[in-house]
Amino acid sequence: MDIKRVGIVGSGIMGSGIAEVAAKAGFEVTLRSRTDEGAQSMVAGLEKSLAKQVDKGRLDDGERTTVQGRVRAVTALSELAECDLVLESIVEELAPKTELFGELDGICGDGAILATNTSTLSVKAVAAATNRPAQVCGIHFFNPATAMPLVELVRADQTSDETLAAARAFAEACGKTVVDVRDQAGFVVNALLFPYLNNAVKLLEAGVANRDDIDAAMKGGCNFPMGPLELLDLVGLDTSLAIIEALHAEFKDPNYEPAPMLAALVQDGKLGRKTGAGFYDYSKK
Ligand SMILES: NC(=O)c1ccc[n+]([C@@H]2O[C@H](COP(=O)([O-])OP(=O)(O)OC[C@H]3O[C@@H](n4cnc5c(N)ncnc54)[C@H](O)[C@@H]3O)[C@@H](O)[C@H]2O)c1
Repeated sequence: MDIKRVGIVGSGIMGSGIAEVAAKAGFEVTLRSRTDEGAQSMVAGLEKSLAKQVDKGRLDDGERTTVQGRVRAVTALSELAECDLVLESIVEELAPKTELFGELDGICGDGAILATNTSTLSVKAVAAATNRPAQVCGIHFFNPATAMPLVELVRADQTSDETLAAARAFAEACGKTVVDVRDQAGFVVNALLFPYLNNAVKLLEAGVANRDDIDAAMKGGCNFPMGPLELLDLVGLDTSLAIIEALHAEFKDPNYEPAPMLAALVQDGKLGRKTGAGFYDYSKK
């Protein structure tokens, strides 16, 4: 199937980034936020990001206008009725995702593909909320979606070959490298990454080193571009906690038992960069 119109549900970190990537790749994008405020802030974020690229000479004025013109921010889910592909990127919790997929199934055309950007949750469980499980898959982008080259393409039990081929073509048109993964919590990247991130918090709790030294150690010792605590702040501590909890539930491995400090920060509303504070303070930056 030929994908031209893409709907994105969720205007947070990932939804906004994917909207920009898809619009730059030439797709007509409808981005759905639950509130006018969310929709407006996503449009403002897109304008700011494109303006930066124009300033740096990476985009010309004409391209900026074209890309901006391809993105429409809406609040009603029914506006996604004409989309060929709808990619969900809302909060990392199963209940809201299944509810959303049930609604999208009733709204979208029979041929439309419904995909999830979940980091860890079961694509099969999300597909089960629809009457089109063959047309449901995972298209897992990485953060920031505008810069990270990878997409994990997730095949659930009933995903058809046609659906996967169309989803792959979409991700490749967005300039991404695609890897095929099975529908298992964390897929490849997060199943390997999150025990490491979680253990970094446990080292901090145990007083083995302070925050800055833990991050400096992994940057200097492993040549990683970011330290683990900086990376957790970038991902979002609520999303990170949800990922670690899902991995723990699936694998029962003590390495996946969430670090209490992570849960405490989430409890305090310190979710990382998106709220201005997490392991680091971003309020003055
Ligand atoms: N942050 C990352 O590094 C990252 C990377 C890859 C994939 N993901 C996945 O992308 C998805 C979104 O993550 P994010 O980082 O953009 O989160 P975010 O917190 O930045 O945004 C979440 C969005 O979901 C909306 N939302 C919350 N509850 C909702 C509900 N009940 N119904 C509809 N919308 C609701 C919020 O208003 C917000 O716009 C998650 O599934 C996450 O696992 C995140």
